[in-house]
Amino acid sequence: MKDYISVGLLGSGTVGGGVIKLLEKNAEMITRKVGKEIKLTKIFGRNLEKMSAAYGDAYEYTTNVDDVLNDPEIDIVVELIGREHPAMEYMCQALENGKQVVTANKDVIAHYGKKLFDIAGKHNADIMFEGAVCGGIPIIGPMKSSMAANEIHSIMGIVNGTTNYMLSKMTDEGMDYATVLKEAQDKGYAESDPTADVGGFDAARKAVILASIAFNMAISMKDVDINGIESVDACDIEYASRLGYAVKLLAIAKNDPENGVSISVSPTMIPKKHPLASVSGAYNAVYVNGDAIGEAMFLGLGAGRFPTASSVVGDIMEAARNLINNDKGRIGYACYKEKKICSPENNVFPSYIRLSVLDKPGVLAAIASVFGSQSVSIRNVIQTNERGKTADLVFVTHAVSAANLKMALQILEVLPVVDKISCIIRVEDSSNG
Ligand code: HSE
Repeated sequence: MKDYISVGLLGSGTVGGGVIKLLEKNAEMITRKVGKEIKLTKIFGRNLEKMSAAYGDAYEYTTNVDDVLNDPEIDIVVELIGREHPAMEYMCQALENGKQVVTANKDVIAHYGKKLFDIAGKHNADIMFEGAVCGGIPIIGPMKSSMAANEIHSIMGIVNGTTNYMLSKMTDEGMDYATVLKEAQDKGYAESDPTADVGGFDAARKAVILASIAFNMAISMKDVDINGIESVDACDIEYASRLGYAVKLLAIAKNDPENGVSISVSPTMIPKKHPLASVSGAYNAVYVNGDAIGEAMFLGLGAGRFPTASSVVGDIMEAARNLINNDKGRIGYACYKEKKICSPENNVFPSYIRLSVLDKPGVLAAIASVFGSQSVSIRNVIQTNERGKTADLVFVTHAVSAANLKMALQILEVLPVVDKISCIIRVEDSSNG
């Protein structure tokens, strides 16, 4: 066996560059901790000149991915090119060649996790992906190891930094959605096509990965009820604040022993005193409830060059240790439970509803009667007093099944006094049962 561990890197962009720099900067400490030097040998990318200008002549650069994937000298392949294809195929090829694989690719893990674990299992290899969920926050490792003895009841997470930045700005500065989105795009936080972030899809992929590990079930994207932040207005944040809530885009996964697992991504009001309420700006946090640990929260930067490199290099070190100790494939695919998904209509939680209504006598009574007819119990009401104009009527319900709420909203939608249903936000509040 060589006296070092050889690493091949696919992709030298933002995170790849961070991995190169971190391996260089902390080389001595990493060697001491692992027991052997971790030597980055080959880097695959599109532009040889650009790579060598950026990272010097200590590495061999190639534009042919097979130079890395089929190199018998390479022990660990690190995939950081992103997107599903061809990244998934590259990882399969690396595993089939018996290599350890480290990735930060949430798209591939969310969609092809089982396939990759099956191949890794056959070849007694590891596939590690701490960087795929919430960048620098250690959450996959703790769930698979330190918290492995727990029956996890629920996970709630702020797992998308772009939307958390936007909602924080709307909260702190009263900015409206369109202005804050433009600012986030100008500053490079939000993509020019922001759909994956603001539409909740990025968060949903992370929810799929977290829920699969937490509940030992092969959860997929179609199991997630996905709602973005597009309909949240600055006034909803203001009303939420008056009601004692903060608005966050939360990934929520709950395991109800009777009804099954429910997974959603949606704008959610949480009490201001909840630990997640104070997680602001680009920060991410994951709040876990397990039968032994109780409640635990993991907080940190969910994206960015060095935070994500921290997770990736940690995985490289773990993969190297397993290799050195001849103990590969230690933690395999653990989705052994049959999947039981709670149908979205059976989900029960309180909701915030903002209606734009005609401001005239009898309107509140008419709307309250519709809610009553569908067993929707009202907890709070806020009414604006701009007589003669359309007014906002804001309701917070007690916990109600999504089916009953849907029926009530369908009736309200065609009620002549209701101009429109402007916004619906889930409420998570243990004091509102
Ligand atoms: N776009 C993500 C975010 C980072 O805003 O958190 C990558 O998952």
